Amino acid sequence: MQEQLKTIVSECIKEAEKCTKEAEILEIKAKYLGKKSELFSLLASLKDMSVEDKKKYGSLLNKIKQELEQKINDCLEKINSKSKISFDPTLPIYEEYGSLHPITIVAKETTDILKRMGFTIVSGPEMEKEYYNFEALNIPSTHPARDMQDTYWLDNGLLLRTHTSPNQVRAMEKYGAPIKICAPGRCFRNEDLDASHENTFFQLEGMVIDENISISNLIYVMKGLLKEVFKQDVDVRLRPGFFPFVEPGFELDCSCLICHGKGCPTCKNSGWLELCPCGMIHPNVLEMSNIDTKKYTGFAFGLGLTRLAMMKYKIDDIRILNSGDLRFLKEFTGQED
Ligand code: DAH
Repeated sequence: MQEQLKTIVSECIKEAEKCTKEAEILEIKAKYLGKKSELFSLLASLKDMSVEDKKKYGSLLNKIKQELEQKINDCLEKINSKSKISFDPTLPIYEEYGSLHPITIVAKETTDILKRMGFTIVSGPEMEKEYYNFEALNIPSTHPARDMQDTYWLDNGLLLRTHTSPNQVRAMEKYGAPIKICAPGRCFRNEDLDASHENTFFQLEGMVIDENISISNLIYVMKGLLKEVFKQDVDVRLRPGFFPFVEPGFELDCSCLICHGKGCPTCKNSGWLELCPCGMIHPNVLEMSNIDTKKYTGFAFGLGLTRLAMMKYKIDDIRILNSGDLRFLKEFTGQED
C-alpha cells in the first residue's frame, strides 16, 4: 500500500501543478480526493482492517489526505490570485475627460431647439432602399437630379443614403399627417475629397405637414432655429433652388455673422451665407406617401450640420472632422456645457 500511496501523492502533485484554470484544479480534486478516488476506497477499507492495521494505516491515510488537500488549495489560491487585477489605491486619478465631437454638439443643440418647438426626433437607416432615397422623393431613375448626388450603390441592392430626406418618407408612412419631425444623420456621397468636400457628412432634416402650412411658417421656424443656434438675431432670405421633392424650392441664406451684412471674405462680400436648402413639399411626394393633398400642405428643410459645425467653430478643412485626430477633438472638451 505504501507504494500505491506514493504514486497517488506524486501524480496528484504533478497534475495539480500543471493546472492553469480553476475548473482544472477542481477536476484534479475530484479525481484524487473525491468519492471515486483510490484514496477514498482505501479510507473506506479501513473499517475491515484489524485494530493494529487500522491504527497504522488510518493515521497515514489521513495524513496523506490532508497533504493533498493542502496542495490543491495552494494551487487554487495561486491561480485565483493571478486572475485578479492588482489595484494600487494610492495611484493618482487619471484626470483626462473625453469630449463630444463638434458635429455631435451641433446636432444636439439644433435638435434640442427643434424639440422645444414641438418637433419629434426620428431616425432611419444609413443603408437605404432606392425607393426611400429617390423614388418616393419624386426622383425617378430617369431623372437628371440623380446625377446631383453621386451615389454609393451596394452589392445587396441597397445604397448608402445620399441625404437625410428619406426620413421624410419613412415618417409619413409610419405616422401620416399632421406631423412635425426632424432627423439628424450621416449621409454619404461619392465625392473627391478636398477642403470643402467629404464623402461622409451630416445633415438635419426637418418636416412639418399640417393644414394651412405656408412659406411663412417655414421662414418663422428657420429664423427661430438660427437665432438660437447663433445666439443672435439673424436676417434670412430665400432664393429659388431646385430639388425635385419641393415646389417651390429655395436656398435659405442668413445674414453674415462675421460682418453683419456689410461684406467680408467669409461671405465673399455678399453679406449673406448660404445655409439651408428647403421648400414646400411637392404634392407628388405627399401623394406617394398617402397624405391627403386637399387637406394638407407642408414644408421641409435639409440643414447641413457639417457646414454648420464648420461655421460655428471656424473649421476651414472639412476633412479634419472625420480624421479622428485627437489633438483636434480635445479642443472641444467642455464645449457642450
Ligand atoms: N436633401 C437635399 C440634399 O441633400 C437637401 C434638401 C433640399 C432637403 C430641400 C430638404 C429640402 O428637405 O426641402 O441635397
